[in-house]
Amino acid sequence: MNSVVVLISGRGSNLQALLDAGLPVSAVISNVPSAAGLAIAARRGVPNRVLPHKDFASRESFEDALAEEIERYSPKLVALAGFMRVLTPGFVERYRDRMLNIHPSLLPAFPGLNTHERALAEGVKLHGCTAHFVTADLDHGPIVAQAAIPVRRQDTAATLALRVLKQEHVLYPRVVRWFLDGKLVIGRGAVSVKGNDAQLVFDDSP
Ligand code: GRF
Repeated sequence: MNSVVVLISGRGSNLQALLDAGLPVSAVISNVPSAAGLAIAARRGVPNRVLPHKDFASRESFEDALAEEIERYSPKLVALAGFMRVLTPGFVERYRDRMLNIHPSLLPAFPGLNTHERALAEGVKLHGCTAHFVTADLDHGPIVAQAAIPVRRQDTAATLALRVLKQEHVLYPRVVRWFLDGKLVIGRGAVSVKGNDAQLVFDDSP
């Protein structure tokens, strides 16, 4: 099916952006029962499931159950949207070239957590977000598109987070749409878009 299963763990604002863009989200799965994104899905009538990783003895048994749940919907794409579990190489391989993630930094800078704090601490002048294919190497898969913002003298982690998040909501739906339209071509590490769509967004607004 030409649809997306979205994996979340929390707030769900990227999920909301995907839904607002009219993308065909067939299900939302959260590993955290209290994730606010579950209510977003429910309000839109999108099937939503909770699969608490804590109920499973191992990472692998959790992922087996997760894959089983995903396969109920036979999606074309799995989109991670604030899904806070490290995935094993086996799971990543299963969804190779059809699992995307949105990350709040200009990769390969600042993989992992606390990206805005780290960007400020390093004094970078350009920050942003990255949509990329997921590989076993955490936050290092082939980059599809990036949105960049300037870091201003008065910025705090909170103001950066806000401006970057706004760009995530622009970038991720665009990239998911490209994927579903069959426009993404994965080369040796790099991804191109058929039709030369802009893979860089630069936002200089306050
Ligand atoms: C976003 O900043 C995303 O880039 C990161 O986790 C956060 C999720 O936010 N992977 P939300 O749940 O989509 O609001």
